[in-house]
Order: sequence, then C-alpha cells, then structure tokens
Amino acid sequence: MFPVIRPRRLRKSSGIRDMLRETSVSVNDFIYPVFTVSGKNINIPITSMPGCFQKSREELVKTAREVRSLGIPAIIIFGIPEHKDELGSHAYKDDGVVQEAVKAVKDAVPELVVITDVCLCEYTSHGHCGVVKDGRIVNDATLELLAMEAVSHAKAGADMVAPSDMMDGRVAAIRGALDKDGFTEIPIMSYAAKYGSAFYGPFREAAESTPQFGDRKTHQMDPANRREALREVLLDIEEGADIVMVKPALSYLDIIADVKKNTLIPVAAYNVSGEYSMVHAAAEKGWIDYESVMMEILISIKRAGADLILTYFAMDAARVLSSK
Ligand code: PBG
Repeated sequence: MFPVIRPRRLRKSSGIRDMLRETSVSVNDFIYPVFTVSGKNINIPITSMPGCFQKSREELVKTAREVRSLGIPAIIIFGIPEHKDELGSHAYKDDGVVQEAVKAVKDAVPELVVITDVCLCEYTSHGHCGVVKDGRIVNDATLELLAMEAVSHAKAGADMVAPSDMMDGRVAAIRGALDKDGFTEIPIMSYAAKYGSAFYGPFREAAESTPQFGDRKTHQMDPANRREALREVLLDIEEGADIVMVKPALSYLDIIADVKKNTLIPVAAYNVSGEYSMVHAAAEKGWIDYESVMMEILISIKRAGADLILTYFAMDAARVLSSK
C-alpha cells in the first residue's frame, strides 16, 4: 500500500491535534506595553495603534486592574513627559511621569509586575536615545543618565528595568548603579538585539519620540545582520542582563531561534507597534481575520523560542485564551 507513512493520521481529529501540539501560548507569556502622560483624566487614543491610549495616572491604574484581571502578569510602562530638553532631564526625575505612574500602579495593583522602559528618546528635545554632541550620540555620557533613570524607576517601585537604548555598556552601568543603591534584587531585561526597524513607526507617534534629525542607525542594529545579534546578546549577558530581548519579533524569528539556542537565560521578543498596526489595518479592510492572525503571530513567536512576548495584543489574546 502506498504511502505507508501518512502524517495525516496524526491530524485527523481535534483531540489528536490537541495532544500533539508542540507549542502553546499562555497568558503568563505576555507583557503589555502602556503609555503614560502627566495630567488628569487623560485617555487619548493613539490613531495608528487601535486599542492603545496615552493615559494619565489614574486611567493607567484602571488599565492595570483590567490587565491583572485578565491574568496577564506584567506591564511595561513608557512615559511621555510634559517637558523635553537636551539631556532628557525628566527621564530621571524622582517625580517624573513614569516614576509617578509606577507608584500609582504598584499601590493599586501590587501583584502586577511593573517593568519600565529605560531610554532617553521620549525625554530629549532632539528625540535621540542619548546625549548629542556635534550631531552625534555620545555613548559614555549617556550611560550615566540611563543609570540614573533606572535607579529612579527602582526607587519608585519598579519590579524590573528594561533598557532599550542600545548604547554600549549600558547593562553593566545600570547593574552597577542599581547595586550601589541597594537594588540588587531588581532584574534587567535588556533590549539586547534591537534592530533599526521601520516597524517602530506607530510607536514613535504614541511615545512622541521621533528623532528630529537623522536616524537610529548608529546604535540600533542593521536588519541584515544575524551573527551580530548573538554578539550583542552575549555581551549583555556578560554585563549582567537577566533576560534578553529580540526586537522586533516577526521579521526576526530566526534571531529569536538563534538566541534561544545559544543562551541559558529567558528570551523575550517584542511584537512591535508596526506588527500590531498592520494586523489591525488589514482586518479593518476585511482582508484578514483579526483573531486568527493575532494568535498565529503569537504562536510563531513562541515557536521560534521566545519565553516572553511584549505585545499590544496581550489583552485581546488573553480574552481569546480564556474563551477556549
Ligand atoms: C525606545 C523604544 C522604541 C520602542 C520601544 N522602546 C522606539 C525606538 O527605538 O525608536 C518601539 C516599540 C514599538 O514599536 O512597539 N524607547
């Protein structure tokens, strides 16, 4: 009889398929990114990211409660300050927008894991991720500011810090500063392999962090490079990173797989704004099915090797998972 070997035997019923499924997505895998602004009763929809908002503190607390009630373990907070300057001074102010948001959320929903994004681009008038001198981003001077920012987040009560700037040596600088101030228990999730990607477009509207001149190509990675990602990841681990992240996720599944294979620490992947907005745009046109495509994307990121997924889909996906 031909053929003897028939893979379809193992696909013939949903029971068999359920038994043999190799990968699963759980609500525990999700980290939900949120944007916070100063002020009161502010809840501004982000046009390019349907379902996402810039929220003032008490609105953010409502979201934090909802996130927790859906079973999602963590959020990552991005801040949009009232005031921007050359050195991004509001990034490391003890009563800055993120610091105040962290306090409010930890007060109201203490069991929710609160992670903060550590970067300067939202806080600098030029929109760059560091100190700018003669049109160039100065690495070592930036490290001090990032370290101050991370410490101020920890002081406010953040459970974990996540540097996204891609300066050389920032993980070591942040680890050193946290330890010196007694925050030895605060883990660092580093954006270790972060590519210079056009998929961040919608986020820059959301976080008001578009560079006023030039681009991020002198610090973020070239999308064409694969081996270099491992170099960045191994360096961050050597410097003390507790979790390493690959970003974006979808066009970089090979990188996620490489990192998983070559490391022993948890791997996170950032399913970024452009990846989210594309699905919404196509679904709005009726060209794809929102829920199915969302779940397929998330499973693909897990299948590639991610342990954690930062995703704007977290709340919708949690609802889908709980209805199954
Ligand atoms: C920098 C930062 C960016 C994102 C997360 N942290 C933007 C950038 O590097 O330009 C992008 C996230 C997304 O697109 O969803 N603070």
